[in-house]
Amino acid sequence: MIAAERVGVVGAGYVGLTTAACLAHLGHHVRCVDNAGPRVARLRRGVVDIEEPQLAELVSAGLRSGRLRFDTGLGAVTGCALVVLCLPTPAGWDGAPDVRSVTSVAHAVARLVAGPLVLVVKSTVPPGSARALHESLGGDRIDVVSNPEFLREGRSVRDFLHPDRIVLGGRCAAAVEAVAAMYRSVPAPIIRTDWASAELAKYACNGFLAVKASYTNEVADLCDAVGADVTEVAAVMAADPRIGRHFLAPGPGWGGSCLPKDTRGLLDTAGRVGAPLDTVRAAVESNTHHRDRLVRRITEALTGDPDGHLDGYRIGVLGLTFKAGTDDTRDSPAVAVVRQLCARGATVTAYDPACGSRRAAAVDHDGEFQVVDEPLLAAKSASVIVVLTEWPEFRAIDWSAALREVAGPLVIDARNVLDRSTVTGCGFSYRGLGRP
Ligand code: UGA
Repeated sequence: MIAAERVGVVGAGYVGLTTAACLAHLGHHVRCVDNAGPRVARLRRGVVDIEEPQLAELVSAGLRSGRLRFDTGLGAVTGCALVVLCLPTPAGWDGAPDVRSVTSVAHAVARLVAGPLVLVVKSTVPPGSARALHESLGGDRIDVVSNPEFLREGRSVRDFLHPDRIVLGGRCAAAVEAVAAMYRSVPAPIIRTDWASAELAKYACNGFLAVKASYTNEVADLCDAVGADVTEVAAVMAADPRIGRHFLAPGPGWGGSCLPKDTRGLLDTAGRVGAPLDTVRAAVESNTHHRDRLVRRITEALTGDPDGHLDGYRIGVLGLTFKAGTDDTRDSPAVAVVRQLCARGATVTAYDPACGSRRAAAVDHDGEFQVVDEPLLAAKSASVIVVLTEWPEFRAIDWSAALREVAGPLVIDARNVLDRSTVTGCGFSYRGLGRP
């Protein structure tokens, strides 16, 4: 009988820390291991670096109850029969996910745990990885269960405790049931399947979301061309349950630490087996073109020429994170657009509620643009204000005060987040995306 209540979690990033804190919240005794010493030292004091609702509270509660402990050494999981691997699988130069940290930690854990062991792979890994891992570990003592995560940044705790589904892929029914038991108090259907299906399902979901978001952005551009309103069009689409209401908001392109990496990983897998996957390839290209079109549109609004130079123009940017509700700027379309504007000669001053000037170095490695702590500082002497992340607080900006700061009264809202009448009522010209 596997003691499911003693659980090891390796990795204390977004996924690992959420998993560890939520499992402790569900009553398990969790040993969470990360090799980043300073991060572990802070976590032991209850200091959570990741901006994620409820996460810090759950970590503190776990520490207080004694059900959550943090360590730097893998030896901490020695007494655990279930070990959840939440390690990064970054894309290599060819787009193929690098699964070496998952493999090496799995082998290290296998050497440390003497009794029966179930390794739960939460990291996003290409189909075939769990089988290969199981074969490389050898013997019947250790089993592998693929348990892909579907957490969204900014909602990870909620998504963990109230998921739409839990996916468990494995070959040994007892191992799958041990992991199912770990989730027994989570109210969600459990889909039991094989290793490869579980692994591919994760990629297929993110690939589909990318296709949907790219399609929405193309429809928004079409709306601009024919004088339709994307908000109205999306409402009609959303009313069809076959389409669904999510991922119908246009923006400057999709990004983040998952969709770009996973579409590359999916295309790499497809390429290896000679499957076309033309739709996902097109979605990736469309995303790049969409971003370029936005930059051309901003350039044209300022210079009258989409290919013009932006030397001497000052642009105020609102939003740098890849979406609202997170402090993450990895693969952020907002940062990519800002870089392109800078490359055309513009001077960019950016404000984001989640990454102020203290974190400027992390956002802007080359010092290409300036990060400020107040939206009105971004507006100062700007010829245009461009909204690139859908933070709701941008609606509450004092637009009359902003008008007094700017050099030109133009707002380009690439997220359709502002209230047009408020902004125009204060004297600005307003341009949304796909809105006449
Ligand atoms: C995504 C998936 O939604 C999660 O299910 C998955 O677990 C996660 O990746 C992962 O693989 O770990 P996340 O990257 O947090 O989650 O972000 P999303 O909320 O999916 O947004 C992704 C991108 O699409 C963002 O840039 C967002 O702005 C963009 N997007 C989203 C749109 O442009 N329009 C929309 O309507 C929705």
